[in-house]
Amino acid sequence: MQVHIELKKVVDNSYDITIDRLPKIHFDTKVAVVTNKTVAALHLEYLLSNISAKELHVITLKDGEEYKNQESVNAILDSLFEHRFNRKSMLIAFGGGVIGDMTGFAASIYQRGIDFIQIPTTLLSQVDASVGGKTGMNNKYGKNLVGAFHQPRAVYIDPYFLTTLPKREFGAGVAEIVKMAVTFNKDFFEFLENADLHNAQILQETIKRAVETKANVVAQDEKEHGLRAALNYGHTFGHVIENETKYKQFLHGEAVAIGMVMAN
Ligand SMILES: NC(=O)c1ccc[n+]([C@@H]2O[C@H](COP(=O)([O-])OP(=O)(O)OC[C@H]3O[C@@H](n4cnc5c(N)ncnc54)[C@H](O)[C@@H]3O)[C@@H](O)[C@H]2O)c1
Ligand SMILES: [Zn+2]
Repeated sequence: MQVHIELKKVVDNSYDITIDRLPKIHFDTKVAVVTNKTVAALHLEYLLSNISAKELHVITLKDGEEYKNQESVNAILDSLFEHRFNRKSMLIAFGGGVIGDMTGFAASIYQRGIDFIQIPTTLLSQVDASVGGKTGMNNKYGKNLVGAFHQPRAVYIDPYFLTTLPKREFGAGVAEIVKMAVTFNKDFFEFLENADLHNAQILQETIKRAVETKANVVAQDEKEHGLRAALNYGHTFGHVIENETKYKQFLHGEAVAIGMVMAN
């Protein structure tokens, strides 16, 4: 005997990415903003002056890749249970890629999945990590080994946040932008060769082009069965460099920049 379950459903996971000053946003649900101490000290006040909700909570985690782990994800989940979040509630990831990946992962598993929004605050997370729905955390076996594909409902990229970003972090983001251009977009690469990223307007245009490039790849291959893997250019060597130097010497983007040269 055999029972067949027909599950060929069409799921629409489409969403918009807004690249501009943060608009006023109101949520008719309970909302939790997940952030870290550094970002909260610099920008939480500005964020909270723009969002309102039926009930608003802030979950502040420790800052650093070493806290991108089960303990932090549990801290998010515990807080949601304590405040009786339900399946209509919403999470907002407010920070760099570390916060974005963990918030998205927590959203993907809380009561089997709730919605979340990305408000990325580093260049790397604005052009790369916040787009495409990869979420996750690290464990003792390695980086990003536990996670889920869970697309955000929306992404709000406000380049104003980058005014407080340390120079090295900015450079690490530029490495991922160059990666996007060399792998998928010749015109964009030529544009970058003469682009002054310290000019706010040119920076905004650059972010838009990088996001468009990534969005285009993700739309064709959401779950990395082929094409999307090219976005890992420079990452095989990059990850070895990060690992061999115990994640202390190079930022991820710096390791990827070296990795791209080696791969070449
Ligand atoms: N999901 C994806 O597709 C994807 C893609 C690329 C990278 N990632 C992940 O992203 C992470 C790296 O992201 P990241 O480079 O943003 O690192 P991060 O999140 O650690 O942020 C870097 C540092 O900048 C600080 N910071 C954040 N915003 C700031 C601001 N506006 N002003 C001053 N300081 C600020 C952070 O607190 C942190 O100390 C890695 O864990 C990586 O695995 C995910
Ligand atoms: Zn990367």
